Amino acid sequence: MAAICSEGITEDEAIIATNNDATSCKRYATEKGYWRDEFVKHFCKKAERKSPEISRGYYARVTALHNLVTQFVSLTKTAGLKSQVISLGAGFDTTYWRLCSVGLQPTNYFEVDLATVTSKKCQYIKTKLPLLDALQGSHDPLFGVDEINSTHYHLVAGDLRDTEQLDRKLLAAGVDKKLPTVFITECVLVYIEPKLSSQLIEWAGKHFSTSMFLNYEPFNANDTFGQVMKKNIKARGCSLLGIDACPDLESQQRRYLNNGWSASWAVDMDTVYQQLLPADEISRVERLEFLDEGDLLTQLLRHYCISVGYNDKNDVGLAGVNLHGTAHR
Ligand SMILES: C[S@@+](CC[C@H](N)C(=O)[O-])C[C@H]1O[C@@H](n2cnc3c(N)ncnc32)[C@H](O)[C@@H]1O
Repeated sequence: MAAICSEGITEDEAIIATNNDATSCKRYATEKGYWRDEFVKHFCKKAERKSPEISRGYYARVTALHNLVTQFVSLTKTAGLKSQVISLGAGFDTTYWRLCSVGLQPTNYFEVDLATVTSKKCQYIKTKLPLLDALQGSHDPLFGVDEINSTHYHLVAGDLRDTEQLDRKLLAAGVDKKLPTVFITECVLVYIEPKLSSQLIEWAGKHFSTSMFLNYEPFNANDTFGQVMKKNIKARGCSLLGIDACPDLESQQRRYLNNGWSASWAVDMDTVYQQLLPADEISRVERLEFLDEGDLLTQLLRHYCISVGYNDKNDVGLAGVNLHGTAHR
């Protein structure tokens, strides 16, 4: 039986609710001008006000991940190869539409989430023309209750804790394990038991020989700030089941090598924000809203990280995909 938490909802329901929160934060930040995303408004009717720290944190998260995915797709395109994106625990993420809008539609784009989330995403996509337009291709999109199959975009209802089922569902949806593939887990793995998230990382590396795995999540939870962060998230009904398994950058990086990947790196979000994102962009976003408490932002950013694993059997140049700039072969 599913555990009921103090909020009177199950742990899965509380985790699903984190997607609504992420979407609302993203909508609010885009309305404020932190980054451009004309699609997120279709997944969230109204954005509640967020503090500048939260919006700057989301800016760093979304910009860094988008930068990495864009480099991956551009690199494969330049090499004359097809490419594939598999976003796990995708929620209402809009990366597919953003890539299409700049002419970088990958050959296949899969999004996986629990059925409660994918059924809602299906409804939004079905009823909003700007979302639906990007699903046009050589055949009309097929809509199920909680899944979509179109020429390039595929929405799959599945549980990441069961890799056998995930493998079956992705194959049924048309995944091609031979294509260069980028996996995205944005604030997802931390909600999954370490044994099961390791299985997922291992499955991805074993089946996709030219691939990258991009993971963003909270970490470094052993200090006072980290303990408060854990407590606040727990109060909303979610356990951060994975947070203690990868408490620092070294363990974040090692999780790929321990699970069969050939290379990996990891960086905390403070470094991303202070050193890796373009300085002129940081000055621009810092002019958007006055930030009273700079220390709070620094603390927040020091408790989130991006980790990346890659296998480059086809020698596409994946070592060059990084946050220092555009990847070149
Ligand atoms: C914090 S939200 C992040 C959503 C999106 N990746 C983003 O960053 O905007 C976490 C998402 O992971 C999904 N998720 C968590 N555990 C999952 C599981 N076992 N299987 C599939 N999806 C899961 C949730 O349903 C939710 O949509």
